Amino acid sequence: MNFRFLSKVTLPFGKACETFRQRFVFSSLNRGVFELYNLKSNFATMVVNTKELETQVRERLVQLYKQTPCMPIMVRIAWHDAGTYDVNTNTGGVNGSVRFDVEQKHKANAGLKVALDLLAPIKKDFADISYADLFQLASVVAIEYAGGPKIPFRMGRKDAEGPEKCPEEGRLPDAEHKLPQLRKIFYRMGLNDKELTVLSGGHTLGRAHKDRSGFEGPWTKNPLAFDNSYFVEILKEKPDPELLRLASDLALLEDPNTRKLVEEYAANKDLFFEDYAQAHKKLSELGAVWVH
Ligand code: HEM
Repeated sequence: MNFRFLSKVTLPFGKACETFRQRFVFSSLNRGVFELYNLKSNFATMVVNTKELETQVRERLVQLYKQTPCMPIMVRIAWHDAGTYDVNTNTGGVNGSVRFDVEQKHKANAGLKVALDLLAPIKKDFADISYADLFQLASVVAIEYAGGPKIPFRMGRKDAEGPEKCPEEGRLPDAEHKLPQLRKIFYRMGLNDKELTVLSGGHTLGRAHKDRSGFEGPWTKNPLAFDNSYFVEILKEKPDPELLRLASDLALLEDPNTRKLVEEYAANKDLFFEDYAQAHKKLSELGAVWVH
């Protein structure tokens, strides 16, 4: 066998095959990198757009609060959207369902139409933000604007499409509830005693209205400032006759552990802000289905 002749014929053929294989591998690699790049840049555009949307909506909310200091009812609407969450069935929670008439009519939600009406022009101008995000963003901006802690926030909650997704009435706590009932409700949301206690500090803002809940008056002397005075007031032996204390507020003093937390928050505003921000972030994401 003439090996020299054979190699003369096969070597160029082998080389051609190798070059072809290399080209093929190279072009597939190229395509992959290109596709990855495209995917990455689409994602980057989406992130930039979402960030931009959040920034613009935040600005509009601040404008709203400057004109109309409606921060308390924004915190309440967000809490009522979130607080229906059931960790066992994964139903309810932050899906914007509180915007539907059927849920608005639940006794606990009396008066929340005021918040919806105030947010309607913002939703009209920024159709891309979901109701679920809008309610939660309105709440965290309200707390920051009122002097409270900065609460970490993430956009992307998906809305419930129709009223059939509304939870049944009775998932939110009642002003007459004592600690065992409050615990049952907060545990059902997947929250614990500490979160129940610290989030009750939300009553540092706002007031009750006779024509909504049947109760009247603010919990603190400055209901438009977010501070730890709610805890200071509920601990006072002699209650200020101008201020409100619901049975559900006083319930926090029934148990030595929740009472200890109330005392710590009354004594240490920074600790309250730190724990509040963490618990509020968790509340603002209960049951969320994320679009990105
Ligand atoms: C622990 C169980 C709770 C009960 C029983 C309860 C009950 C109530 C009631 C009866 C009102 C008065 C509504 C009105 O007449 O306008 C109210 C208002 C309010 N609640 Fe709660 N709440 C609870 C927890 C929370 C939590 C966890 C937050 C926030 C994280 C919160 C935030 C507010 C705010 C900001 C207002 C004032 C709304 C306004 O001024 O329009 N509440 N709550």
